[in-house]
Amino acid sequence: GLISSKDLLENAKETNYAVAAFNIHNLETLKAVVEAASELKSPVILQTTPGTVKYAGLSYLHAMADVASKENDIPVVLHLDHAEDYDLIVRCIDSGYTSVMIDGSKLPFDENVAAVRKVVEYAHPRGVQVEAELGRLVGAEDDLNVSEYESSLTNPDLAAEFAEKTGIDSLAVAIGTAHGLYKGTPRLDYDRLKEIKKRVSIPLVLHGASDVPDDMIAKAVEYGINKINIATDIKIAFVKAMKKYLEEHPEESDPRKYFTPAIEAAKEVAKHKISLAGCKNRA
Ligand code: 13P
Ligand code: ZN
Ligand code: NA
Repeated sequence: GLISSKDLLENAKETNYAVAAFNIHNLETLKAVVEAASELKSPVILQTTPGTVKYAGLSYLHAMADVASKENDIPVVLHLDHAEDYDLIVRCIDSGYTSVMIDGSKLPFDENVAAVRKVVEYAHPRGVQVEAELGRLVGAEDDLNVSEYESSLTNPDLAAEFAEKTGIDSLAVAIGTAHGLYKGTPRLDYDRLKEIKKRVSIPLVLHGASDVPDDMIAKAVEYGINKINIATDIKIAFVKAMKKYLEEHPEESDPRKYFTPAIEAAKEVAKHKISLAGCKNRA
């Protein structure tokens, strides 16, 4: 069955690797990442955003993830990613999600703490783990000046205070990554990461890991990241392979035909990310 991320991420922290967490949207993307993890004997975190919950339905997503956890000999976690709505978090916990993220990163510090604390109080008695974010991931579209950019990153002292006041199980940090693709090469603030690591004892999470060069991910893991979130790279591999197939077979209407190469392509990317995270053979 689905497991909690507590032991998984604690073990990753103690042993200095990261668990790859993939955003899935349907049966095909779920199969791609679960098959990848299973072949590499790696634990895996399946995560869905509130948008995906709306699209696919909570019970369908939970049922698929539950089957995946039962039919594969690897630890599988089902995590709610970037939730802002308390009621949705409660519904997901009640439906069997084993981990949730409450994203109060847009809120002022005290309000973020209060929102997260409330989720922790509901989640922990039910054996569900809570991830929260301090600092803010900025995208290519956010044209910030240098000081605005700096202030969007996670403050190491506040991170320690945040972790302590909220009682969270893992902390998402802003150290220069962004969701989606980058305009140029991203700059990661490793010094900041090291400072956060010194002050915060819980596992650290890196969002926006797609389109970050491999060596930069490896370095972030070396300096203490214990979960890497990947969405865009999987989606791009999937749709690219599907488009290629349909361009070569414009009359094809059988989903089994055009989804098969798409699953294979997504699976290759997932395997690569799992290896990069150092999660291979950790199941
Ligand atoms: P990417 O789309 O850049 O991989 O970011 C994923 C993410 O952070 C999901 O929470
Ligand atoms: Zn994210
Ligand atoms: Na990214």
